[in-house]
Amino acid sequence: MKKKKYKINLKRFIPFILAVVLIVTVVVLISGRDKTPNPRRCKHNFENGVCTICGGFAKDYCKHKYEAGVCSICGMKCSHEYVNGVCKICGMEEDPKLKWPNTTTGRDEYPLTSPTDDMLVLVNKQYHLSEGYAPSDLVTVKRYVEGVGDPSQGTNAMRRVAAEALNTMLDAALAQGFDMKVRTGYRSYSYQKGLFDSYARNYGESEANKYSARAGQSEHQTGLACDLGAASQGYELRDDFGDSPEGRWIKENCAEYGFILRYIDGTLNRVGEHTGYIYEAWHVRYVGVEAAKIITENGWTFEEYLEAVASVQN
Ligand code: DAL
Ligand code: ZN
Repeated sequence: MKKKKYKINLKRFIPFILAVVLIVTVVVLISGRDKTPNPRRCKHNFENGVCTICGGFAKDYCKHKYEAGVCSICGMKCSHEYVNGVCKICGMEEDPKLKWPNTTTGRDEYPLTSPTDDMLVLVNKQYHLSEGYAPSDLVTVKRYVEGVGDPSQGTNAMRRVAAEALNTMLDAALAQGFDMKVRTGYRSYSYQKGLFDSYARNYGESEANKYSARAGQSEHQTGLACDLGAASQGYELRDDFGDSPEGRWIKENCAEYGFILRYIDGTLNRVGEHTGYIYEAWHVRYVGVEAAKIITENGWTFEEYLEAVASVQN
């Protein structure tokens, strides 16, 4: 029998060889790539809200497992959203002392008879101002952003004592190269109502409640607070105001002039336990130099300061 001869036709294998070369090249290129761990595939080890392996933030990547309101994986506190007294995120019952995040009712008015005379007036989700309350000594501040707010309703103004301290503070900042202006100072009950309603319409009530006060619950109505804009950010209202040179200056120096950063106990994603609002680096509140220094040195919220004062007095 004649043996069949098999002849290898190299030409037929060329596409196969090319494909192998291509695959090997791709594998070599991929394995030589930046080896930064991908947060989506990382087996996270969170410390202080940041993964020590991939650098991802717990708020973005942790599949939270809450125990008593604190995540047992990453240690983050729950940002609580209460429905009928129970948090729909972590299942914890609402503490009656901390009914901040979604309260619609609270005390109707600050219990002092004459809040206009009180620099330490407390206005928050629990202590409200009445619809008819407006300070009697509003004066326009020196440096404000044109075209923001409604000057005819006094949004460029603050109570005299606060306006004067603010003018001095912003002059001092400017002299050192930090240029800031007031976006809104005083806001009437009805102005605040319009503001909150518009946020609620656009982003939902629960979201609006994290950064905007309902009418009667905003300390802008006291005329002692204002929101600042920085020249380096086009005087816009920006979440990262605190990272701007001007924002850093304010944090360092505002107590010297009698102001505090009012909403310091939350983050940009989580409302604070005492104030009930997210972190606001741009909102300053006049409380007088003495209180401002004590509050700032202790890292207190205004609520914590007033509690400390009350505990000493009782
Ligand atoms: N953004 C603060 C909480 C206010 O609306 O008064
Ligand atoms: Zn504000």
